[in-house]
Amino acid sequence: MVEPIDGLVVRPMLEEDVPFVHQLDTISFSLPWSQRSLSYEVSQNAGARTWVAEIEQVMVKRIIGMMVLWLALDEAHIATLAVYPGFRHRGIARTIMITALKAVFHEGARSSYLEVRAGNQAALQMYQEMGYKVWVTAVIITMIIKRMPCCLHWSGLICLTLKPGGYHEC
Ligand SMILES: CC(C)(COP(=O)(O)OP(=O)(O)OC[C@H]1O[C@@H](n2cnc3c(N)ncnc32)[C@H](O)[C@@H]1OP(=O)(O)O)[C@@H](O)C(=O)NCCC(=O)NCCS
Repeated sequence: MVEPIDGLVVRPMLEEDVPFVHQLDTISFSLPWSQRSLSYEVSQNAGARTWVAEIEQVMVKRIIGMMVLWLALDEAHIATLAVYPGFRHRGIARTIMITALKAVFHEGARSSYLEVRAGNQAALQMYQEMGYKVWVTAVIITMIIKRMPCCLHWSGLICLTLKPGGYHEC
């Protein structure tokens, strides 16, 4: 099991987080979203579920990960996900994913899909470990979980329980 980073909190994204999330997006992707698009997802898109991972260092809070998920009926589409380079491969993306998927499971999501570049080994490996299967193979691979397992099963992967403002280990 991954040891969560001390003081890591996964919580819904707020409008005031957008400039920091945009910075993270810009260093993570060659075609980052605009601040306006991120703002729209946080404040106006009723179907969007937006998350950040935050740590507190020397009394200063810092956003180190983010995710946007679109919920449409029973489908959860992972729209974007990124972690700051210095914090990668420490379980943060997986923690965000599981927190977000558990939350939408409670809202009725039963399947999930996403697109990932064929060359993005880190992301591909993570999604496969989480149970996503390759659905369509191209330069951009579409991956899908057709029937999301119940939350308890997800908990076996990394044991987290959602609570307002973050998560705690169970
Ligand atoms: C993909 C990304 C979000 C992963 O974030 P992360 O916090 O480093 O991921 P985690 O630490 O939670 O890793 C979960 C699993 O992903 C895989 N993984 C993560 N980094 C990896 C790497 N450098 N090489 C191979 N596998 C890797 C592993 O399977 C890992 O599980 P393990 O720790 O048990 O080996 C991060 O690399 C990133 O922000 N990349 C740039 C943006 C991006 O590509 N986003 C995804 C778009 S689809």
